[in-house]
Amino acid sequence: MKLKDKVAVITGGGSGIGRAIALRFAAEGARIVIAELNEASGSETAELVRAHGAEGFAVTTDVGRSASVADMFRSIDERNWNPDILVNNAGNAGQGLTPTHEVTDEMWDSIIDVHLNGTFYCTREALRRMLPRGTGAIISLGSVAGLSGLPGAASYTAAKGAVIAFTKGVAQEAAPYGIRVNCIAPGWVETPILNSLPDAMRPMMTEMTPMKRIGTPDEIASVALFLAGDDSSFVTGQTISPNGGMYR
Ligand SMILES: NC(=O)c1ccc[n+]([C@@H]2O[C@H](COP(=O)([O-])OP(=O)(O)OC[C@H]3O[C@@H](n4cnc5c(N)ncnc54)[C@H](O)[C@@H]3O)[C@@H](O)[C@H]2O)c1
Repeated sequence: MKLKDKVAVITGGGSGIGRAIALRFAAEGARIVIAELNEASGSETAELVRAHGAEGFAVTTDVGRSASVADMFRSIDERNWNPDILVNNAGNAGQGLTPTHEVTDEMWDSIIDVHLNGTFYCTREALRRMLPRGTGAIISLGSVAGLSGLPGAASYTAAKGAVIAFTKGVAQEAAPYGIRVNCIAPGWVETPILNSLPDAMRPMMTEMTPMKRIGTPDEIASVALFLAGDDSSFVTGQTISPNGGMYR
């Protein structure tokens, strides 16, 4: 088992990529904390984790609110669990695609809050617990949107690009203390988040992907497992983009 007894905190673990990562890590012996806005789906993933024979619990959390993130980490402390792995995965696509000149302050802020501020709040709390122990792996979900841009998704593109840059900076800062920080920037992956985008985009997603198909959450979980465990012991500050060959 690659993650035996490690404590993994997975934000947005109630659905899609986050759930796939939770179940993969559980199968590798990790103890799982699901930090999820949707109470029902978070609890459901925690039940699935326990059905795998692993320990796990869910905490209803809004990663875009600093106080909610601090509460979530306190509930981990109360169990005397020490976070070894953080996966900053929570996210949404807001109202879908909107031309930049029509984006309101509220639309902008809500995407920046969950994707960028949430990544910062959770990383800060995790580092406070990882630094004294001199060990840890932090993985954040970027996107190909943050590498090459996505028209009509200004806030999402900006937030994901910032997550990639944040990864590089924090990785250099944390490297001397035994903590690795990396990013996964997926291409199109079949999860409920795609329902926020127009149906007409579906054919375009496969067309723009050289493998001519959309990825699966399990294919992203495989990359997360590599970055979480000792197989990537010399890898930090990197962005790996599982995207079916779409890289430009
Ligand atoms: N699916 C794709 O094509 C794709 C591509 C690139 C990047 N991503 C990124 O992968 C990550 C996971 O997305 P997914 O595709 O699995 O989507 P998803 O909608 O299936 O899952 C996202 C989860 O995050 C939770 N969430 C949303 N806001 C939250 C908040 N404020 N606090 C806590 N939890 C919150 C949702 O309730 C949901 O369970 C996101 O960061 C997304 O931007 C997805």
